Amino acid sequence: MSALPSRVTITESSSRDGLQSLGAFVPTAAKSGLINDLAATGLRYFDAVSFVSPKAVPQMADGAEVLAGVHRKDGMRLFGLVPNAQGLDAAVAAGVDGVGVLTAASDTFNERNINATVDESMHRIRRILLDVPEDLVVRGYISTATHCPYEGEQDPDWVAHLAETMVEWGIHAVFLGETIGRATPAHVDRLLDEVLDRVPVEMVGVHFHDTYGQAVANSHVALQRGIAMMDSSAGGLGGCPYAPGATGNVATEDILYLLDGLGIEHGIDIVDVARVAQRFCADHNLTYSSAAGRALLASRDGE
Ligand code: HMG
Ligand code: MG
Repeated sequence: MSALPSRVTITESSSRDGLQSLGAFVPTAAKSGLINDLAATGLRYFDAVSFVSPKAVPQMADGAEVLAGVHRKDGMRLFGLVPNAQGLDAAVAAGVDGVGVLTAASDTFNERNINATVDESMHRIRRILLDVPEDLVVRGYISTATHCPYEGEQDPDWVAHLAETMVEWGIHAVFLGETIGRATPAHVDRLLDEVLDRVPVEMVGVHFHDTYGQAVANSHVALQRGIAMMDSSAGGLGGCPYAPGATGNVATEDILYLLDGLGIEHGIDIVDVARVAQRFCADHNLTYSSAAGRALLASRDGE
């Protein structure tokens, strides 16, 4: 049965997931500028930076400086991704409002991504939840929630178990990471059957990549289940350095177009997002890949 939410909270991931895999270093001021420009479109939640090893992901070495360049607006929430206690300390020192902690369904991906088995990373998450300052929001990411680039299809029951465990430990929200964009609505349906059986829908978010062009359809499935938290990336920027061939998150513009069509509130100006992302892509020699954004900008040009 359909249970569309009346409002969706988008978390904008372009400055983190969107940039982390790029070889050419994007200057710190340009990263802060991207967040500031996107905040002017109405976006308020940002998966802004990560506090990870600069050897593992050189592009994210300037997380604290990026945040220092952000002009805070009312209601703005800046998140930093943290793989361990060292990352948590750095994120707290940089003044984040929340952190994303990391595990995955598959050991192989998790070991390549954060040098820990799933079990080890769950223990790290437990420690972080014990140590985290009370006012910080903690989101738990479960990567490879449907498919792993190395191990193939994942067991929804196992993912639901990880999600439920994090909730029992006091996490504020669990985000299901479809890291390589291979899932179809049928996979997402099966995953949500298990997860929503054990975790309240208000605590579940989705983080879809769009490699196979399924992310809007997958987002629709999540909306029909009542999920009201979604990550997306302006212009469809993104990818994970440890998921070869995976492309960006679902484009923010494509999700906003879907939400508008369904009459779901979001508080963001879709054309402004498209303009900001297209300009950023042009400035940094990146491919702009939002279908809705391209169409909207083309129709405005013709007016
Ligand atoms: P490790 O080698 O096991 O770490 O890496 P270690 O504790 O042994 O330390 C090794 C070195 O790293 C030391 O420095 C530490 O200080 C440093 P050295 O003494 O050699 O100079 N170090 C750190 N530096 C800065 N910040 C830290 C930190 N921790 C250690 N937090 C580690 C383990 C987790 C650090 C590493 O594997 C890592 O940084 N991985 C991050 C990889 C990453 O960022 N991947 C992309 C994000 S995940 C993603 O995109 C998926 C998502 O979008 C959802 C989805 O799509 O599914 C969220
Ligand atoms: Mg991702």
